[in-house]
Amino acid sequence: MKSDSTVLPDVFRICFEHYNTAKNLPTGKIKNPNEILREFDFEIKKNPADAAELFKDMQLYLKLTPNTLTPNFQNQLFSGLNQYALAGDWLTSVTNTTMATFEVSPMGTLVEKKLIEHMNRLVGWENGDGTMATGGSNANMISLLVARNKMFPEIKKEGQLNKRLIIFVSEDAHYSFEKAANILGIGLDQVKKIKTNPNGEMEPSHLEEMARVSLSEGEYPFFVAATAGTTVLGSFDPIDRIHEISKKFNLWLHVDGAWGGSVLLSSRHRHHLKGIENVDSMTWDTHKMIGTGLMSSFFLTKHNGILRSSHNHGGEDYIFHESEIAEWDSGPSSLQCGRRSDALKVWLTWRSLGDLGIEIQIDNLFTMAIKAKEMILEYKELELMYEPSSLNICFRYRSVSDVNTLNKKIRHRLLEEGNFFINIATRKKETFFRLIIVHPDLNETHLYKLFSDIIRLGNKIKEETEFCMVKT
Ligand SMILES: Cc1ncc(COP(=O)(O)O)c(C=O)c1O
Repeated sequence: MKSDSTVLPDVFRICFEHYNTAKNLPTGKIKNPNEILREFDFEIKKNPADAAELFKDMQLYLKLTPNTLTPNFQNQLFSGLNQYALAGDWLTSVTNTTMATFEVSPMGTLVEKKLIEHMNRLVGWENGDGTMATGGSNANMISLLVARNKMFPEIKKEGQLNKRLIIFVSEDAHYSFEKAANILGIGLDQVKKIKTNPNGEMEPSHLEEMARVSLSEGEYPFFVAATAGTTVLGSFDPIDRIHEISKKFNLWLHVDGAWGGSVLLSSRHRHHLKGIENVDSMTWDTHKMIGTGLMSSFFLTKHNGILRSSHNHGGEDYIFHESEIAEWDSGPSSLQCGRRSDALKVWLTWRSLGDLGIEIQIDNLFTMAIKAKEMILEYKELELMYEPSSLNICFRYRSVSDVNTLNKKIRHRLLEEGNFFINIATRKKETFFRLIIVHPDLNETHLYKLFSDIIRLGNKIKEETEFCMVKT
């Protein structure tokens, strides 16, 4: 019989078992909401549930959640979890404090500050600033907020002016900029899309033209985001050339490095972000390429103090007290009041690997990406859609007819079988698999099995379709 006093050791045991075994297990069969609703009792009852019931719930929760710790999980820009990240997350949970003030989170505050200093140095900023955010999307929103408040300081108090503020992002940029434009009252219509070349990189000449037209129409362009590692293709915008244009038109230049920021640690691949030291700010998610666990998102800027001046307002009556340590409070520089100490898991992972360990991990991923591309080129049934820029490998099962539908069907069957979890993307009306090479243990055997499964399912669906056509 379970009792409340044994819950934590038992939970630790099942989490530990899950962590140790999941790496070698499949991703698990996908289920639709109704199947899950039948299998799991979600009702909060009037009477308390006992420890045994709750423990069963926890076991079932683990079972019904897709396994993202295996190299077969290639669906998103993260896969796997470093053990120190998990340890850091547990410590953060058990200390259960808030980053609002230094006095309640002295360790969390210093860990975050020191980590940000280290990251800023890697960017090339000796006196930069930064904060963790609840995701890369929100880090991108912070970039828009601080840029807007710097360029139009009156908005913080007076609200949106009677001006059309314009922001530029590439057509391959992440959708979070549009969300942010909505939240900040800039408006979706004011997000102007810059064309990309066939590799998915922003065309600087189009940015220049759009900025010029915008000014000539009496608008107020103030911001451009370059992407370091686009979501679908993994492309890197040419930062140096975009920087020249941003200077000419007085635009705040932000780099969305949510995906590709970690490449800064690799001397072999860092050239992708050439010129990063000249930009105004950057988003960087370490939970993606470094495996530090969700969420590990950073907003970094070379403008020290701008986070505080942009966000600071209120709270002096009860939380931000005058004292000699008040300047260490991170609450006034944040969107939030209460905030989780997410830095510890990143810091522990980084310390355990060292800059060098991360560099090796990233270089290995790039090598594996080249192998994946070469393997695809060898299968006559598969077609490489784009020359990979980094760790996103875009390919599809070939077909002369209904190729988009067929590839969507293959993915669905693959997820039903439950061995692999891989995403599909549609760009310029073509649908294809987006294989993400990010799990540090992903090897050629996993890739061989994935490609074989895709080909097997593609052949089978084609046969079934042909059979149906003959019958009708
Ligand atoms: C380029 C890019 N920016 C931002 C984001 C959003 O990051 P998050 O999921 O941490 O909000 C993503 C997510 O995949 C991304 O690919």
